[in-house]
Amino acid sequence: MSLTTNIHPIFHRLLQRTDKEYLLKQTARVLWLTGLSGSGKSTIAEALEKKLHEQNFFTTLLDGDNIRSGINNNLGFSEVDRLENIRRIAEVSKLFLNCGVITINSFVSPTNDVRKLAKEIIGENDFLEIYVNCPLEICEQRDVKGLYAKARRGEIKDFTGITAPFEAPVAPSLEIKSNELTIEESIEKIFSFILPFITKK
Ligand code: ADX
Repeated sequence: MSLTTNIHPIFHRLLQRTDKEYLLKQTARVLWLTGLSGSGKSTIAEALEKKLHEQNFFTTLLDGDNIRSGINNNLGFSEVDRLENIRRIAEVSKLFLNCGVITINSFVSPTNDVRKLAKEIIGENDFLEIYVNCPLEICEQRDVKGLYAKARRGEIKDFTGITAPFEAPVAPSLEIKSNELTIEESIEKIFSFILPFITKK
């Protein structure tokens, strides 16, 4: 017997996403930032959320380190745990999406498989993949959290880019070369790209 045998969802009786979007005067989307640790995802996500807020958009921001200290604090960095991390985040994002909220996600999400899963759960139309591209050498040089040094010393296993893979997205919705642009330039580029997607028709 399947685990959902005795479960009777009531989605059809609930207010619809469009009802919420009408109230919020926007179209909800998930903006999914992927990239190496230290590539600038979180900084860009924070500044982007502020910009959207100033422009009267209603948003939320989900970030790797925050989510991993709460709902996902029982997960590590094995392939299986990363997949479960992203699966839960995608499901949570869908809840926000159905509330009409523009959801900014900042997760390493290192493989095609995990990003594919997120896209499937969220739905292709609502999933905008933004690749924050910064060369590994520069992320490692910056090493803001000191994690690359630890990974090189063998103190962290399965560290993305060092002892675990990072597969660059093949066809992201948008690519930001974060080492070539200022934060302001990155935000402007993302904002002008997403504006048609989040504007209420
Ligand atoms: S993901 O791969 O599962 O998408 P997630 O974005 O949630 O990763 O978390 C990444 C953050 O966890 C990094 O920014 C870094 O601060 C921290 N971290 C700790 N250990 C690792 C590791 N082995 N690999 C990558 N990031 C790690």
